[in-house]
Amino acid sequence: MKFFIDTADLDEIKQAASWGILSGVTTNPTLYSRTGGKLADFEPHMVKICQIVGKDVPVSAESTAETTEDMIAEGRRLAALAPNIVVKLPICEESLPATHQLASEGIRVNMTLVFSAAQALLAARAGARYISPFVGRFDDIAEDGIDRLNDVVTAVKNYEYGYWEQEGGPEIITASVRTPNHVVKAALMGADIATVPFAALKKCVHHPLTDRGLEGFAKDWAKVTGQA
Ligand code: G3P
Repeated sequence: MKFFIDTADLDEIKQAASWGILSGVTTNPTLYSRTGGKLADFEPHMVKICQIVGKDVPVSAESTAETTEDMIAEGRRLAALAPNIVVKLPICEESLPATHQLASEGIRVNMTLVFSAAQALLAARAGARYISPFVGRFDDIAEDGIDRLNDVVTAVKNYEYGYWEQEGGPEIITASVRTPNHVVKAALMGADIATVPFAALKKCVHHPLTDRGLEGFAKDWAKVTGQA
């Protein structure tokens, strides 16, 4: 499974990239607003992210357009910013034809806010390069997000779509990830990607038994070096 980072924070992206594990970046309007950025700086900020991660690492930039025509126009503009920009569109009646048009122009779309296998199948059929089912938001309403993700992965992987196959797409991005357990469960069911906020990514690095093991080594090594 590939790891994407779900943030627009440049320092977090730099740090995750330095670990050598980063295969992509996803942003959304909320994540951008958390950086304190304003509208005028939105596109330059996306370009900065693209430069940090390099041209082969996809960076999802979300369109806030509401009509099909505006989504297509904004999608073209975003895609022209850098070769690794992926246009992020929420699943809706307006975004399906926009996705279809952008895909026919070779522009990659990440279809987001996906909560059902039916939505995911439509996204794949319309030509989405990536499909982002949300997990944590089901948990927020006491439903099983992992179970819903399993439906999406199984349904989408049952078929071929004639889009992005040479790139191995469409790929499923497990989104709204909150915990290492979400990451593990997504990997066990064969989801292609997990996009993980930096705090959750850091939790994935650690384990209480690793920490305990390190303490033990440090204590015993102090005996070896005579510093105990
Ligand atoms: O990738 C989508 C993500 O940013 C949403 O996460 O935690 O707001 O449900 P969350």
